Amino acid sequence: MSDKVAAACGRLTMSLIHKAAEILRSGGLVAFPTETVYGLGADATHAAAVRKIFAVKGRPVTNPLIVHVADAEVARRYVRDWPAAAERLAGAFWPGPLTLVLPKQAAIVDEVTAGRDTVALRVPDHPLTLQLLQAFDGPLAGPSANRSTRLSPTTAQHVRDELGERIDLILDGGECHVGIESTVVDLCGDTPVILRPGGVSRQQLESLIGSVNVFEGHVSRDSPAASPGQHEIHYAPASPAFWFDAGDQENIETFLQKRDPDHIAVVSLSPVAGIAAERQIQLPGDPTAYARRLYAALREVDRMRCVAILIEMPPDEPDWTAVRDRLRRASRPLAQEI
Ligand code: TXA
Ligand code: MG
Repeated sequence: MSDKVAAACGRLTMSLIHKAAEILRSGGLVAFPTETVYGLGADATHAAAVRKIFAVKGRPVTNPLIVHVADAEVARRYVRDWPAAAERLAGAFWPGPLTLVLPKQAAIVDEVTAGRDTVALRVPDHPLTLQLLQAFDGPLAGPSANRSTRLSPTTAQHVRDELGERIDLILDGGECHVGIESTVVDLCGDTPVILRPGGVSRQQLESLIGSVNVFEGHVSRDSPAASPGQHEIHYAPASPAFWFDAGDQENIETFLQKRDPDHIAVVSLSPVAGIAAERQIQLPGDPTAYARRLYAALREVDRMRCVAILIEMPPDEPDWTAVRDRLRRASRPLAQEI
């Protein structure tokens, strides 16, 4: 690219970012890229704009939203308390896939936090969105840019396909390089609690702030969220999906005996015997590379309109915690199905 072309591209990008900031200021919705998944953004101080997010997603109003900010200094403006653990974690992981739950300031409207006195904050690691946050100069409420309970989008095209006409602008920042949602950590109590595993692991957190608990419970979709975002069905493809452990060959065979293998799709680490190769997607054995491709792969098998999707569960090891969490929410155990 010549310098002139590069300068023209830069100007075009900046004018798009200013347009996006303008839309946010006037109460509109902008989909934005992050390193994890695409977000659906509105001004977190503007109640009517935030209500639009819930309407477009079909999200229960009891499930609070994450708020994105430009840096830790801006984050501190929107919380009443900034404990030492927040300072350490923000210093180590922001911008990045870590969300901190802290007591909120009144400027963040109750619609964002579902009436809670706390707010979930993070600084996303994507150059376009960091520029947007600087231009907008405010807190950006942004859940994943998908219909509620469905798969999170990892490309702008995924957002277009699912929410296209219903939002004012989609900023296309390419493919998300982490691919699954951020780790959510509640810092309001005496001991930090991981509410959702993600790109930053428990081990990484504990090496900086000591002992961290993990929220284990699940809440059904209808009950008022005791701990929000812990809905059992989440991130799910449209076709029924079932997970199996490597070496579960016997269960797979029993399952296939009762169904037409031509209508079964597979997402796995290694090929499954008895299913045609064109309906199988093999994902990498490295957790980081796997996570990056997971949602796109699930969307791809979903488009095959099969009667069932079989998903191989990666090993029960710390590096796979976040991926295993998403797979358990997206599918049911095959062993219980046969
Ligand atoms: O990676 C991500 O976190 C992406 C990108 C767009 O930043 N966002 C995302 O947002 O996944 P969403 O809304 O799909 O998930 C937000 C999670 C939910 O589990 C929600 O319940 C939890 O954060 N959460 C938000 N505010 C909270 C609060 N005040 N207390 C506890 N949990 C909260
Ligand atoms: Mg989501």
